[in-house]
Amino acid sequence: MKDKIIEGHPYTSYHHFQFSAKEMKERSEEFYEWMNKRRTVREFSSEDFDISIIENIIKAASTAPSGANKQPWTFCVVKHPAIKKKIREAAEKEEYESYNKRMSEEWLKDLAPLGTNWQKPFLETAPYLIVVFKRIYEIEAGGHKHQNYYVPESVGIACGFLLAAIHEAGLVALTHTPSPMNFLAKILNRPENERAFLLVPVGKPVETYVPKLERKMLDEMMVVYK
Ligand SMILES: Cc1cc2nc3c(=O)[nH]c(=O)nc-3n(C[C@H](O)[C@H](O)[C@H](O)COP(=O)(O)O)c2cc1C
Repeated sequence: MKDKIIEGHPYTSYHHFQFSAKEMKERSEEFYEWMNKRRTVREFSSEDFDISIIENIIKAASTAPSGANKQPWTFCVVKHPAIKKKIREAAEKEEYESYNKRMSEEWLKDLAPLGTNWQKPFLETAPYLIVVFKRIYEIEAGGHKHQNYYVPESVGIACGFLLAAIHEAGLVALTHTPSPMNFLAKILNRPENERAFLLVPVGKPVETYVPKLERKMLDEMMVVYK
């Protein structure tokens, strides 16, 4: 790797792998087929596994691009049973309100095929909960609040990488949003610049059923301008 200074800033040379047209087609097809096997699950094995796998998954998520490279994310990994229990209780309290009072008829109808309800036993069964926080700003040494940019976009992309890395490791996950999610910052004692973004239980798979869903066909979602 060659480093150099360009207009006063350090740069490093970058070479990406080059594949032949055939390899590109094969690799992109294989990747799609592999990603197409990913499903959201709502049941997990309680079997433990090494935290180094979670560390690798989070490192993979952290390779995501981010606005002005601010990397405005924190990944909290919860393994402690008492903290998981607290999170479950608080999530169920919010979800009970949502399912019984806050969600519209239309929303409840959209959720019906997924078989979800206010109960969240998986928050205690899954060996790990990854709680993703977005960092709205950074607090500098003197107390100045330094803004981060395109925070939801950046954290959303990092979560996409996270889910892909979980799938790649042979683990399963649920993208969970028990809203409002402010209870997560309180339970995990997060600083004032962080807001809960996603709650992701991760575990080994068990035999389970998932809703039979259709993914959009290419011509329903891709528009080509030649
Ligand atoms: C931002 C976001 C929030 C979600 N929130 C929940 C949730 O709170 N509870 C739940 O059971 N599933 C939740 N899901 C999972 C979706 O229901 C699921 O991704 C969708 O039904 C498609 O299924 P698939 O992931 O198996 O393709 C969420 C997904 C996303 C992307």
